[in-house]
Amino acid sequence: MAIVEDELGASSVFADRSKLDFNYVPLDLPHREEELRALASVFKQVADRSASQSAFVTGSVGTGKTVLTKKFASDFQEASRKRQQNVEYVHVNCRRNASEGLVLHAILKHFDPKYPERGFSTNEMMRDLRKQLERRGCHLLVVLDEADALVAKEGSDLVYSFTRFDDERAAPKATLSLILVSAEDTMPLRLDAAARSTFRRSNTIALPPYNAKQLTAIVAQRAKIAFHKGAIDDDVIDLIAEIAGEDGDARYAIELLDHAGWLADQDGDEEVTPEHVRAAKANTRSFVTEDKVKLLGVHQLFTLKGIARKLGRPRAKAHLTTGEAEEAYKLVAEEHDQTPRAHTQYWKYLNELEVAGWIRLKEAPRTGTSGNTQLVSLPDIPARILVKKIDEVLAKEAKG
Ligand SMILES: Nc1ncnc2c1ncn2[C@@H]1O[C@H](COP(=O)(O)OP(=O)(O)OP(=O)(O)O)[C@@H](O)[C@H]1O
Ligand SMILES: [Mg+2]
Repeated sequence: MAIVEDELGASSVFADRSKLDFNYVPLDLPHREEELRALASVFKQVADRSASQSAFVTGSVGTGKTVLTKKFASDFQEASRKRQQNVEYVHVNCRRNASEGLVLHAILKHFDPKYPERGFSTNEMMRDLRKQLERRGCHLLVVLDEADALVAKEGSDLVYSFTRFDDERAAPKATLSLILVSAEDTMPLRLDAAARSTFRRSNTIALPPYNAKQLTAIVAQRAKIAFHKGAIDDDVIDLIAEIAGEDGDARYAIELLDHAGWLADQDGDEEVTPEHVRAAKANTRSFVTEDKVKLLGVHQLFTLKGIARKLGRPRAKAHLTTGEAEEAYKLVAEEHDQTPRAHTQYWKYLNELEVAGWIRLKEAPRTGTSGNTQLVSLPDIPARILVKKIDEVLAKEAKG
């Protein structure tokens, strides 16, 4: 009882952790404004003339395909209602519903929560869907997310039927529009010619991977609503964005944010530190192994140890200036009874370590009069663990 009670009553860095849930749709999507606008322009004719429309949204993992289409569909519904047009939307994940029957069922359930899961053929379900839309006089926007899973399994019949949904009716108003979503940018090529012809280049919206700066905005937005004030520093947010910036993956960035927060809670800390972020990364995708540490030369190890030791101190920031890093290096070299190498050689070590992925260098934001300063950060392993590994390797080498 005491353990559980203690845990429930424990304070947390999170104000509302559900804001980090992958299903949560934030009010704005930083750096997707242009794509949101592009989708709206594709669907303008639905709003203006009640003609149906189809679009294809693609982009690699974590580029915001799901959140963008959800956001678009809900904004589109709201904007249409303001214009006295009744729009409904259903977002179906085809990996979870990888058959025509399951997709149709998910859509019908939106209109009739009790619609039976079994017992109806695809044709019957299509007929029921038509009836629902006619009765309600509404236009339905169907989003088939991860559509490749459906097409791979069942071919393109359902997609085709949706794109031609209104063709066989004499009714003046179109009733169904479609957005296909897939990480595979060539997915429309898998459709047969008839279904493919509706997905023209102008209806394709490709989401580029995010860069670190864009991820900073995304992470900062989420941190603000998910964490208590003061529980997470801008510096920590930058570090997360830098790490996730390698793949341009916002999902990974938010996962790191969540995991780092959880680790801070585990440690009973009131603030998320760079060390929590590195530990979160090490838990997800670690890069540092002992084998790799062994491949470094002695002065590279000193360089890295100096950096890791400084960054691993309690309350340390996520970045050091190269000047601070060099000081730390000299100290480490002296502790190991070695003469520190000169400045230009030190820079070589830094660059080699960066190329090999041990550290990251970036330009410091300019502050008034100061010239160009570079900042060093450790992207991967928790600094304290790295120091320990380096010490082990150095000890072995000293023994010879
Ligand atoms: N521009 C953005 N602003 C705010 N949050 C974003 C943005 N882009 C992505 N996200 C968030 O990042 C996470 C991943 O986004 P999403 O699930 O939409 O990616 P995806 O492209 O669908 O990935 P997958 O290919 O794995 O399905 C989600 O939590 C989402 O809310
Ligand atoms: Mg998705």
